[in-house]
This record gives sequence, C-alpha cells and structure tokens, in this order.
Amino acid sequence: MNVDVRPRPDRSTVSTGLLQVSGLTKRFGGLVAVKDMSFSIKPGEILGLIGPNGSGKSTVMKLIMGIERPNAGRVVIDGVDVAGWPSHRIARQGVGLVFQHSRPLHRQTVGENIKLALLPDALLKLFADPAVEGKARAIAERVGLGAVFDRRPATLPFADLRRLELAKAIARNPKVVLVDEPFAGLTAGEVAAFSKLIAGFREEGRAVLLVDHNVKSVAALVDRVLAMYLGEFVAEGSAEHVMANPTVRQVYLGAGSIETSARPELDQKPGPPLLEVKDVGVLYGKAQALQSVSIHVREGEFVSVVGLNGAGKTTLFNAISGLVPYSGSIVWGGDTLAGRTAGSIARGGIVQCPESRELFGTMSVRENLDLGGARLSNGDRTAKLDWLFELFPILKSRATQAAGKMSGGEQQMLAIARALMMQPKLLILDEPTLGLAPVILEQLSHALERLRNTTPITVLLGEQNVTFALPHADRVYVLEHARIIWEGDPARFASEAGKAYL
Ligand SMILES: Nc1ncnc2c1ncn2[C@@H]1O[C@H](COP(=O)(O)OP(=O)(O)OP(=O)(O)O)[C@@H](O)[C@H]1O
Ligand SMILES: [Mg+2]
Repeated sequence: MNVDVRPRPDRSTVSTGLLQVSGLTKRFGGLVAVKDMSFSIKPGEILGLIGPNGSGKSTVMKLIMGIERPNAGRVVIDGVDVAGWPSHRIARQGVGLVFQHSRPLHRQTVGENIKLALLPDALLKLFADPAVEGKARAIAERVGLGAVFDRRPATLPFADLRRLELAKAIARNPKVVLVDEPFAGLTAGEVAAFSKLIAGFREEGRAVLLVDHNVKSVAALVDRVLAMYLGEFVAEGSAEHVMANPTVRQVYLGAGSIETSARPELDQKPGPPLLEVKDVGVLYGKAQALQSVSIHVREGEFVSVVGLNGAGKTTLFNAISGLVPYSGSIVWGGDTLAGRTAGSIARGGIVQCPESRELFGTMSVRENLDLGGARLSNGDRTAKLDWLFELFPILKSRATQAAGKMSGGEQQMLAIARALMMQPKLLILDEPTLGLAPVILEQLSHALERLRNTTPITVLLGEQNVTFALPHADRVYVLEHARIIWEGDPARFASEAGKAYL
C-alpha cells in the first residue's frame, strides 16, 4: 500500500507530541472514569496504556476519538485542540480507533466494509470508483485480508474480524491510531503478526496509543508505558520501570503467577461419567466444525479443552448446551440430550458462560445476577450474591449500573458471576480469561479452586490460554481443526502437545 503518511509536524509538535492530552476528565454520573489525565505521543511512537479492568483506558480512547465528550481537558492533534468535537470531525483531523470489540456491517463484504471506512460520508455509488477499489484492496492485503475480500464478516474467523477493525481504522490514513485490546483472543502467532502491523504504524510516523492486557506483548512492542488506576495516572516510563512500580504490581499484575494447588485425589466413581460426548459431528453449511469428537467428564472433575481460535471449542460447548444440531450422541447423567431444548438442558444443570457473554445490556448488574439466581431460595440467593460480591467487588459497587455500560473486563466478570448464580452442576466456561487483567485472572483462578474444594461442582473449561487452563485441570483435551488430537494429564501436556500453545 502506498501510504502517504508524512505527518509534517511543525516544530512545536515534534518536541511536544502529535497527540497531546492534558487534564482530560470524564464523569459518568457520580463516577469519575478518567481524572486529570495528561500524556503526549510523538510521531513514530507507541505508548502502551495499561491498568486494571475499569481503570478508564477505553474511556480515554473514546474521549480522544470524540465518542464520549470530556468534562474537562484538552486533546490536541497536530496542534489543533479537538476536545468536544464530534467524532467524524476528529476522524477527519487524523484519528483512527480500533475498537475493543469487532463491529462490522454484516450485510456488507469485507471489501465494502473497508470502502465505507474510506468514504464514510459518501454514497455507495462511489464504490464504483476504481481508485477506491484499489485502495481498499491494498489495505486488505496489508492487514492480511486479501484472500477474503469478497466474503461477509459473519463467515470469518475471529482473528480476521480483528484484522477488519484494524483495516477500517487505518483506511483514512490517520496520524494518530488508538488500538484497544488488539491481542485479546488471538493465538501467539496472530499476536506476533498484529504486533508487526502495529510496529508498521510506527515506521510510518503515526502516533499509536495501545491498550492490552497481554502485558508481555505490550512491553515488547511499545516505546513507553503509562499505567492508570481508577481513572488516574499511576506511573509512566519504560515498560520495565512501570512494571516494577509497586502500585502497578499490586493493583494490576498481581503475584504474576497462577498457582497450582494440590488437589485431593478424585475418587473415581465406577459407572458412567456425568457427561459423555460420543462421536459428535457438527456441520456449518459445508464446513466441518466438529468431526467425531468424543470427550467425557466425571463428576467433580475439572476438564480443560485447549484449542486455538476456530478449533471448534465454542461449537462443542454449543452442541452440549443444545444450541446447535449435531450427529452422534451426548449423554448427561445417563440420559441422552438429543432433542432437548437449550432451556431444558440448562435447567438440568448444564450452565454455559459463553465467550460472547450474552448479558442483558440495558438491565442492571444486579438484575442480571438476580435473573441467574431466579430459581434459588431467597436465603441461598443472598448467600451466593455475598460470595460473588466478595469475589468480584466491582459487581457490588456497580450493582445498579447498566450491564452494557460496564468495561470489557467488568462485563466478563458479570457473565461468570451470573453463570455461577445458576447453581450449575456442570459449569462450562468458554474463554473466561478474555479481556481480564492479570490480577483478576489470579482471583478467578483462586475462586475456581475454592469452588471445587467446597462445592460438588464439575467444570469444563475451554481456553487457548494454557497458563490458566492447565493448573486447574485434572485432564486436558486438545482440540485442533475440529478434532480431538490429544488427551492426557496436564503434567504431560508441555512435552507432548504444548508446542503451539506455550
Ligand atoms: N457509559 C458509561 N456509563 C457509566 N459508566 C461507564 C460508562 N462507560 C464506562 N463506564 C465505567 O467507567 C469505568 C472505566 O471504563 P473503561 O471502559 O474505560 O475501562 P477499561 O480500563 O477500558 O477496562 P477494561 O480493561 O475492562 O476494558 C468503568 O468502571 C466503567 O464501568
Ligand atoms: Mg476497555
């Protein structure tokens, strides 16, 4: 792609930054989500912004982009203060935002999505313009979407959807690029590819603001890191310097490890397993999403299904939950699940916490939890809520906030908590670590240990994050390209199956 990006900064912006933020403040009702934040990014520089879930990172980006209006502060782009401008004017001033969640237009193809980003104010007839077509193709090639240019987003794997967001953000050749959690849910190889793309922005002289909870990958990519907590500045400097900051360690990084606790020997009860998936196949059109998959889970067991994006984990869980048709058999507590509705399967004790969270966005945090616990007695519900509020304190202090207005990680905590409210016999967790800060991962890890030591719960966990999936597991399956290719003890995983994951 022949990108004409010479930001042509005048002398004042060379010394002080292409993007200069000062005194930036945002209140949502009584909550100060961003408080008096100041930083600047030079052309050709990548600043990493880190902080716990809900610390205000995405809000900072939305304020710069004009999606939210600041209550105070300046956002200076190449010498022009754009604070309070509408988003489309800020885009024209040279800012692009890669959203935390993919939101393509599903009825348009990949190419059309990119063209719309190139010409957001123009009518579709301009699509005929060969220059636009050429530009869109060049951008698609550059981000690795060349081969799927004419496909619709709904048929694309997760990483390609993320690529499409990247393509849309750079379509108008922005001087300042804001990238929110590009690595979440990507495999190590994909993270490397995305890092290279983002490093390319630096070479082109753009100023990049990067947010992600994949601390290692952020540290490897950025020139500087800024840490925030509860909307406020905590530390700034080299990645090494900031990660060593005691506050950052305490509120964000945690102890830095997920511990394996010694687990009691499972008394292997004779008889059939609690859940038995036998020779299950799922077809999406012509695509084989699962191919003769067989797994079983015994009562009280913690089983991890490790697999990369698109391997089929979510499809497997959806089949068990009765959400997709399948061939083969799935037996639960001795009874076949074939023909049962998703609702009846859930009432039977199989509760899935989906990757997509499926929260009721306009309902409050508390209402979402109460719905989950609708079948509990009042006493049980209160006890359960107390336990969950201790586990995720943010859910207590935000009980009345609309679920859809919680931060990405806060919504993930709510989805997990709601699943736990449903008193599952079998809890299916699909990529629960997505978007969670390291310290929350540790808390979640301890909570799962506590659950299994104090309740008769059985867990089926789908993850590509093996540092989270292995320590808890009694047994591990590896799912690759729709098939189970390995089964065994977590201790043997590294030597026998771990290459792609470790
Ligand atoms: N529209 C809104 N109304 C009310 N509160 C909001 C709104 N948007 C965000 N918040 C709150 O502001 C705080 C900052 O949210 P933000 O999304 O910026 O966090 P974040 O640092 O990006 O977190 P994460 O790492 O989980 O994505 C959160 O506590 C969130 O619940
Ligand atoms: Mg966020």
